[in-house]
Amino acid sequence: MRSQADENHPDLRSALNLLLSAGGKRIRPGLTMLAGRMLHAEHERLLSLSAAIELLHTATLVHDDLIDNSLLRRGIPTLNSRWSPGATVLTGDFIFARAANMAAETNSIPVMKIFARTLSTIVNGEITQLFGNRCTVDRESYCFRIYSKTASLFETSAQAAALISPVEEQVVEWMRQYGYNIGMAFQIIDDILDFTSQEDTLGKPVGSDLRQGIITLPAIIYAETYHDDGYAADLLAGRCIPEGDRIEELILKIRTSDAIQKSHAEAVRYVETGLNALRQVPAGPERFALEELANYIVQREL
Ligand code: IPE
Ligand code: IPE
Ligand code: MG
Ligand code: MG
Repeated sequence: MRSQADENHPDLRSALNLLLSAGGKRIRPGLTMLAGRMLHAEHERLLSLSAAIELLHTATLVHDDLIDNSLLRRGIPTLNSRWSPGATVLTGDFIFARAANMAAETNSIPVMKIFARTLSTIVNGEITQLFGNRCTVDRESYCFRIYSKTASLFETSAQAAALISPVEEQVVEWMRQYGYNIGMAFQIIDDILDFTSQEDTLGKPVGSDLRQGIITLPAIIYAETYHDDGYAADLLAGRCIPEGDRIEELILKIRTSDAIQKSHAEAVRYVETGLNALRQVPAGPERFALEELANYIVQREL
């Protein structure tokens, strides 16, 4: 991944180095590597694919932090906190291009196709969130958003590993289902952590979804369960709650309500569906690790 900035402007090199040194959990390339090894993909192609996926993810974060005006990511200042919007956009574009280059190194047209499709799905999801109805309790649009921005890339991470492996189409489909379901669970947990975690644990700002009028599963379940509560009435009627004491109080109410535990249970159900698909492929150490990865997703605290 680092070598992708060689022979380019020193500021692009140092930006990519900084982003990569901060690490991140590297869940998506971990998933791809494990799935590909389990299905006997060729090692070099699998490495290129995993790097492509992590670079694509990294580029979306560069742009997302600019859009969300977030100043902290992976515990370090974001590019947009130090650079102009123009330089930040260009760095994101550069990383997208290098990600596409690595995807092409798999020499698989199907992989390049789903790679391009996934990027357009993510962008479509981000713009839907940007221009969509704020402050509206709507499960259908919530599922669409979390699929677009997160589950689609998990789906691709697992499916593309199978696509470069010597396996039947049915196996590709099982892996796609595994990736899709753990991706949906991953974003539900991310949305829970936005209510329950602390900035220094998570390495990124918390509590920002509701303040920005983005209604996630804990708020949806809260509004559905406590419809007599004044705040819930506002949310159900699609009225935004202004910045200040009322929103802080609502965040506290949601954080301490059973909406958190109920959201968690929904994430666990997705993981179970994903595990059912995974268990269709023969058992072995990699499959075991993918099962552990699925369980980690709903147990994680960062
Ligand atoms: C952050 O993803 C963006 C979301 C989809 C919530 P991760 O939580 O996987 O970020 P890193 O790569 O570990 O920093
Ligand atoms: C993550 O979206 C960005 C993408 C997956 C494109 P969010 O804005 O919801 O996530 P964080 O909180 O910044 O990680
Ligand atoms: Mg963000
Ligand atoms: Mg965002």
